[in-house]
Amino acid sequence: MPLKLTIANQRGGVAKTTTACAMARCLADTGKKVLLVDADAQGSVAAILGLRPELHLYDFLIGKLRLSECITRAHERIDVICSNRQTTEAEAIIQAQTLREMVFANLFSPYDHLYDAILIDVAPSITLFQTCAMMYTRRVLIPVGMEPLSFQGATASINATETLTRLFRTGVQCLALLPVMVNRRLALTETITGMLEILAAEKNIPLLPAIRTDATVAKAMKSKKFLADYDPKSKALEDYTEATRQVLALIEAADAAAFQ
Ligand SMILES: Nc1ncnc2c1ncn2[C@@H]1O[C@H](COP(=O)(O)OP(=O)(O)OP(=O)(O)O)[C@@H](O)[C@H]1O
Ligand SMILES: [Mg+2]
Repeated sequence: MPLKLTIANQRGGVAKTTTACAMARCLADTGKKVLLVDADAQGSVAAILGLRPELHLYDFLIGKLRLSECITRAHERIDVICSNRQTTEAEAIIQAQTLREMVFANLFSPYDHLYDAILIDVAPSITLFQTCAMMYTRRVLIPVGMEPLSFQGATASINATETLTRLFRTGVQCLALLPVMVNRRLALTETITGMLEILAAEKNIPLLPAIRTDATVAKAMKSKKFLADYDPKSKALEDYTEATRQVLALIEAADAAAFQ
């Protein structure tokens, strides 16, 4: 079974897509074959990585094309299913279907064996596709920026995992909280970090080491490159590499515990 993870926070602009792309690359750099799914109609993954997809998530979900036909390659070990405006249309069509929450699980699972890791980047709101992604991956990573609305968005995402677990009597687990865009010189950083420590302890969710604020992230985006290609020595990449290592360790520990 591949490692499967939804990157979610109901607040916009909290580095969900940045995290999804950076982690996809960190995983690929450890030799893993990665599928990165953009389930957000903004289509940011293609924009950030400078991809020119011919087919999109819509064609996979609604056109019922094979996954291999809908993939855009971003790296020798990273396949991307890109989004565009049609993702909203796909969501509206699927909304009317029975068992709609299971659509990703049903359509992506047959391809699980082709990948070591599957990451899904979702829109910053409670959408059907966020639910579909969570029901498929069963694990959610929540990036949290150092401001109150981002913290609120994180608690909303944790609530979403708890609601799904209750409704479907199946575990949707919040794998970890990831502090992002952390600048220790800003007063709010200390406040939000403290709030996150309390939330993590209360909910028993691991808190990953922080991703520092780093101007290289925006520059890499502008150049439409992975951080690892734009500046392999950047602070943000160093932090994402460590966060990815810890995500892998958490998943290995959880899988080992489930086996016992
Ligand atoms: N570590 C970082 N340091 C500095 N800037 C960052 C960092 N991480 C992300 N950013 C910047 O934050 C902005 C938002 O990032 P991103 O698009 O990844 O957020 P998002 O949560 O996916 O947004 P949306 O909710 O719109 O999908 C971008 O301009 C990005 O360059
Ligand atoms: Mg995004």
